[in-house]
Amino acid sequence: MILVTGGAGFIGSNFVLTSLTQADESILNVDKLTYAGNLNNLQSVSHDARHIFVHADICDNERMLALLMEHKPSAIVHFAAESHVDRSILGPAEFVRTNVNGTFSLLEAARSYWSGLAGADKAVFRFLHVSTDEVYGSLGPNDAPFSETTAYAPNSPYSASKAASDHLVRSYFHTYGLPTLTSNCSNNYGPYHFPEKLIPLVIANALAGKDLPIYGDGQQIRDWLYVGDHCAAIRRVLKDGKPGETYNIGGWNEKANLDVVHTLCDILDELKPADAGHSYRQQITYVTDRPGHDRRYAIDAGKIERELGWRPAETFDTGIRKTVQWYLDNQAWVRDVQSGEYMKWLEKNYSQRDSAANTNQQGAI
Ligand code: NAD
Ligand code: DAU
Repeated sequence: MILVTGGAGFIGSNFVLTSLTQADESILNVDKLTYAGNLNNLQSVSHDARHIFVHADICDNERMLALLMEHKPSAIVHFAAESHVDRSILGPAEFVRTNVNGTFSLLEAARSYWSGLAGADKAVFRFLHVSTDEVYGSLGPNDAPFSETTAYAPNSPYSASKAASDHLVRSYFHTYGLPTLTSNCSNNYGPYHFPEKLIPLVIANALAGKDLPIYGDGQQIRDWLYVGDHCAAIRRVLKDGKPGETYNIGGWNEKANLDVVHTLCDILDELKPADAGHSYRQQITYVTDRPGHDRRYAIDAGKIERELGWRPAETFDTGIRKTVQWYLDNQAWVRDVQSGEYMKWLEKNYSQRDSAANTNQQGAI
């Protein structure tokens, strides 16, 4: 059995679903069900005896230790986090609480549990910490992609909290010998992505006839990876990764935000045409830039390919088309998520901000 934290969120729920169907793994799924956690993501496995869901907070060290002692997992895959950069700018406290203190509390529980194991159980145990490429900061246009030896330079409260958690994980390997693995991944996209993030937000807004907000000039670059590929990479790191090591995961898919939004509009024009003469591109609106906005992320995923034989299966073209189709087929899921309190909060905060800069002309930012 594997203990997964944050398994009701975007990547965590994809990991749970694909691990049950593709890897026949049993999973203890621990999630606090914040605004980002959604049990609807797991509906298809709600009667699967190999999946146990526990509503709990990773900051609750005693509860986490009790769960470990009761279920005796062979690994922890740690996804639980506050994950949205914009939210970390508006309210960083929760990011420090969950991402830093929560990871610390979980590491302490894992250390206690692992210390009490013996023989093969102790030898096989792994703590896999799921992290981000944002810990490396921002690249210039001609810089080489981030490698595992790139110096940390986090720029947002989110990335700083993830960097702090990465350092704690590293220290538990070096100090206590806890067999940890860390993966630093680029931007994911795919099913069950919460519509506060660029790709699902643009799809949802396009279909609802709303503005498609582009921060700044839209030339910021992200390196996109289909979520199913990320989940496969995590399973590979868990199985064959060397304790104490970090692995960068990415899709070799650098794209400027504006190009991503154009691609989404074009696929929607084809699959779900709006009124005659209207292209979804007409809804693009330039808004005030994100403070401290990182200009470019790019991942060198050479190490995981050389050492563990992992490469993504999807190209951006195949993955993004699948994703748009998934959102078209799952409008009820989107409506349900959007009916929650968080989306009302988001709308309120963002409509205030955007009304100051709202224009359809680039350059008037
Ligand atoms: P998400 O926001 O969609 O989901 C986070 C999940 O964690 C939710 O289910 C939430 O309820 C749960 N959670 C939050 N606080 C908790 C707590 N205190 N205790 C227990 N559960 C809690 O996030 P995501 O996009 O799926 O990201 C998952 C992980 O992957 C994060 O650690 C993130 O930093 C990392 N990551 C994300 C991306 C990306 O593009 N989304 C890329 C690289 C790395
Ligand atoms: O790089 C990995 C990271 O990718 C993860 O660690 C984070 O958890 C995840 O949220 C993601 O962070 P980003 O900030 O890159 O993702 P987001 O979807 O918020 O934004 C993608 C880009 O699009 C970024 O340059 C900001 C821009 N953007 C975003 C939104 C929500 C817009 O231009 N308009 C928008 O409305």
